[in-house]
Amino acid sequence: MKSFSVSDLDRKDIYSLIISLIAPRPIALVSTVSRSGIDNLAPFSYFNGIGSNPASLSFSIATKEDGSLKDTAKNLLETKNCVVNFVTEDVFEAMKLTANDFEANIDEFSEAKLTKLPSDLIKSMRVKESIAQFECELIDLMNVSNRLESLLEHSILGFNHKLEPGSGNLAVCRIIKVHFSESILRDGTNHKIDALKYLPIARLGARHYLKSSIDNFIQ
Ligand SMILES: Cc1cc2nc3c(=O)[nH]c(=O)nc-3n(C[C@H](O)[C@H](O)[C@H](O)COP(=O)(O)O)c2cc1C
Repeated sequence: MKSFSVSDLDRKDIYSLIISLIAPRPIALVSTVSRSGIDNLAPFSYFNGIGSNPASLSFSIATKEDGSLKDTAKNLLETKNCVVNFVTEDVFEAMKLTANDFEANIDEFSEAKLTKLPSDLIKSMRVKESIAQFECELIDLMNVSNRLESLLEHSILGFNHKLEPGSGNLAVCRIIKVHFSESILRDGTNHKIDALKYLPIARLGARHYLKSSIDNFIQ
């Protein structure tokens, strides 16, 4: 058994241990929109549900090496809504493309050749090719560092304010509308998903992914 104090490891090693051991992780392909109307897409696998009352989920956006926020976090602070698009084989290759660090003025739907589908209740676009989407409103965005602060409360500091590199910015969102393809509906029901039909792709450590397959299901 190998044991390390976190204080003896550098940040890149800690990152690698976290993503290798907390696995497999679901992937949220998150679309947001800036105040000036530029649509953005990026995948996040520090992602999970929180509760059903209110219907809520969270994902965590790491602070960049220079202490600045990724576009997804900036857009959330500006417009306070997002769509979580779910990842199956249909959008897997495009999802990886959207992880590139594009300039904020680049529309990542066109870069990834994905089709925009307007949301019913919010400004952020849905990904038409994605098998399911949640329309969400931001409840809070919390920077998890030594200083524990809510970015929403402190957004007055402006985007020049530097955060701890690698610190997580936890987006907590209320799910306000759900869309999913009839192809994953459980027979005889109106809003239940058939676990044997929905085949999500999950992220493992490094650049590895896990493909769900009927042959691998256990009970
Ligand atoms: C499958 C996958 C999962 C990812 N998960 C995360 C994550 O949970 N948190 C994070 O900050 N970055 C994550 N990334 C990296 C971001 O997607 C990447 O930094 C992206 O460029 C951010 O885009 P933005 O600046 O448009 O927000 C992930 C990348 C991939 C390919």
